[in-house]
Amino acid sequence: MTLLSPRCLAFSLLKTAKIYVSVFLATLPIIKMATTMTLVDDILKLKKEKRALILAHNYQRGEIQDIADYVGDSIELCRRAMEEKEARMIVFSAVDFMAESATILNPDKKVFIPSPGARCPMARMLPAEEVRLWKRKYPKVPVVLYVNTLAEAKAECDICCTSANATKVVNSLDSDTVLFGPDENLAWYVQQKTGKKVIPIPEGGFCPTHLLFLKEDILLLKEKHPEAVVAVHPECTPDVQSVADFVGSTSQICRYVGGPSAKKYIIGTEVGIIHRLKKENLGKEFIPAYDGAICPNMKLNTLERVYLTLKEDRNPVTVPESIAKKARRALEGMVSIAQ
Ligand code: 13P
Ligand code: SF4
Repeated sequence: MTLLSPRCLAFSLLKTAKIYVSVFLATLPIIKMATTMTLVDDILKLKKEKRALILAHNYQRGEIQDIADYVGDSIELCRRAMEEKEARMIVFSAVDFMAESATILNPDKKVFIPSPGARCPMARMLPAEEVRLWKRKYPKVPVVLYVNTLAEAKAECDICCTSANATKVVNSLDSDTVLFGPDENLAWYVQQKTGKKVIPIPEGGFCPTHLLFLKEDILLLKEKHPEAVVAVHPECTPDVQSVADFVGSTSQICRYVGGPSAKKYIIGTEVGIIHRLKKENLGKEFIPAYDGAICPNMKLNTLERVYLTLKEDRNPVTVPESIAKKARRALEGMVSIAQ
């Protein structure tokens, strides 16, 4: 038997270890895929057993969109929750204000959120106390609040809106001036569309994710892809909206790109939507206007958390009835106008 020198032995051990590591790394995606498939199977099984309905916002992770019963924008998800007759529980995979709105509109249904930490920062830019201050300053002016607000703030307003129906809601009011919050960019959009005076409350409310889109980036992309059509969300700045061919809510963007207008689109909203756009429009190309535009709050919901919510009835969404009662009036007003 020939004995290896310590150096040769170390070299051969290192070589073997390298082979093991590369085999392990090569199998990682397979292990991940198998785990995901098992998790998906478990979720679908539990969903059936517990007669659950899974609703997911257009920004949710692709794997959550794929197991959801319905994927949509904030108003569509509210409506879908209201129409539901069979389900014993609703798993609302989105951020807090959306799940809260579904709870307020459906007092008889049990609504759960996979991650209670999924909170929209914009919704916190307008506390109820600040709405009261603005109301005192403009006592005769109606207050319209974006659904991206907390229930306490909604309880103080005349009517709610989403980005899909904000123009319709403001036009429905018998007033040339409205207080509108918390998104200053959506307020600007509504003012352009309605010709009314839209006073943003607070001054400078914004979505941190949509603020990442820049007009300059879009112009550069347009130079590179001159045939591409630009579709953006009204939470983008006026500068960005001004270079877009289409401005609309997430589901309005989905419908717009489904039409015959083009084969290539530059998309100015949270990148999670690209999953749905690609899935529904094979053969079309979707370029994020900025691929770092990720809403970290939306992404807190994961398949694992959906599974645990279903298994353990985790994270029920509750709103005190004294607040829910007032907020319900503002939300129902919106729903009835938008239908
Ligand atoms: P949509 O109502 O268009 O889905 O928008 C909700 C939202 O939070 C956008 O950032
Ligand atoms: Fe809130 Fe912006 Fe995230 Fe929408 S994308 S949930 S507005 S932080």
